Amino acid sequence: MILITGATGYIGSHTWVELLNAGYDVVGIDNLCNSNIKVLDRIEAITSVKPKFIEMNVCNSNALKSLFNLYSIDAVIHFAALKAVGKSVNNPLEYYKNNLGGILELTQVMSEKNCFTLVFSSSATVYDANNPIPYQEGMPLGSTSPYGWTKLMSEQMLRDLEISNPNFSVAYLRYFNPIGAHESGFIGEDPLGIPNNLMPYITQVAIGKRPHLSIYGNDWLTHDGTGVRDYIHVVDLARGHLKALNYLMSGKGSILVNLGTGKGFSVLDLVKAFEKASNRKIPYQFAPRRIGDIAAFYSDSARAQKDLNWRAEYDLYRMCEDSWRWQSMNPNGYE
Ligand code: NAD
Ligand code: UFG
Repeated sequence: MILITGATGYIGSHTWVELLNAGYDVVGIDNLCNSNIKVLDRIEAITSVKPKFIEMNVCNSNALKSLFNLYSIDAVIHFAALKAVGKSVNNPLEYYKNNLGGILELTQVMSEKNCFTLVFSSSATVYDANNPIPYQEGMPLGSTSPYGWTKLMSEQMLRDLEISNPNFSVAYLRYFNPIGAHESGFIGEDPLGIPNNLMPYITQVAIGKRPHLSIYGNDWLTHDGTGVRDYIHVVDLARGHLKALNYLMSGKGSILVNLGTGKGFSVLDLVKAFEKASNRKIPYQFAPRRIGDIAAFYSDSARAQKDLNWRAEYDLYRMCEDSWRWQSMNPNGYE
């Protein structure tokens, strides 16, 4: 049995579908602080499997122990975390408590229950922004937000745990910028309130919920002056988790990899691709740079290809098509 924490969230729900499609027995947990219970019906509609789900907080040690008593868990994929960079600056303690508390309680209970296989959601945000691009796994680390520090500190905690208990094997997956949605249009990204991230903002402009996109800066040192990122289809990302799980379960030890496409696209590249895929115009205005942003980053994805035999398959156009299908079939998200 595989346990997914943060299972009803954006990446968790897509990974859940891929695991069920691959025949895994899965139980999902989530406290629903940033997701919707309706995801479960959608997962069932896609996979024809009724998802096993328990609403709980991953920081609750007693609830975790009961869960591990109920199911024989072989491995855990840990997504549960708060992820809004800006909010983490205003509420750092909430982020440290939730994200570090979660990994702490989870790994403690895993140790007690002899479950030593863990896939961890890390992020490209752990790389020092002064690194040259593309980012390689061995490059210096650093962070500019409490959110980023929770990911760096979690990685460190897990490394220390591995040293103290060599039974543990951990996949540290550093995601770049996930966008897109399942091709069915049944599950996708459903941010609460005003989206912080680019793609959900674009789709809300396209559906008429927001008048225009603000593009943060047109004077970056990039090919067209707008910020460059490594956008990766969420289904490709989800499949990377299956590869990582198989790697760990085959006894090869721990692994640290970037999950990205290895290609950078600008905000304007994404807007153009989206307009083509959706056949809608995206009005935009240039606005001042957003605090904390950097000009460009994308992954070196060679290690994932070599060690996991994984690489992203979907291109930017397909990411836009699927994001738009999700948004147009669900103008108000899961509500
Ligand atoms: P998400 O917010 O959609 O999913 C996270 C889920 O975790 C949510 O359903 C939320 O309700 C749940 N959760 C949060 N705290 C919890 C707790 N204490 N107990 C139980 N459930 C809890 O986010 P996502 O985009 O699916 O991200 C998944 C993971 O990937 C996170 O760890 C995030 O930091 C990481 N990540 C995301 C991105 C991105 O751009 N989306 C990039 C890099 C890394
Ligand atoms: N952008 C705009 N307008 C918007 C939103 C974003 O111009 O309304 C621009 C940003 O300035 C940036 C690009 O679009 O150049 C991408 O911004 P996102 O907010 O979508 O993504 P970020 O790269 O800033 O950050 C995301 C996650 C982080 C994670 C990082 C790497 O929010 O948590 O990807 O994985 F760490």
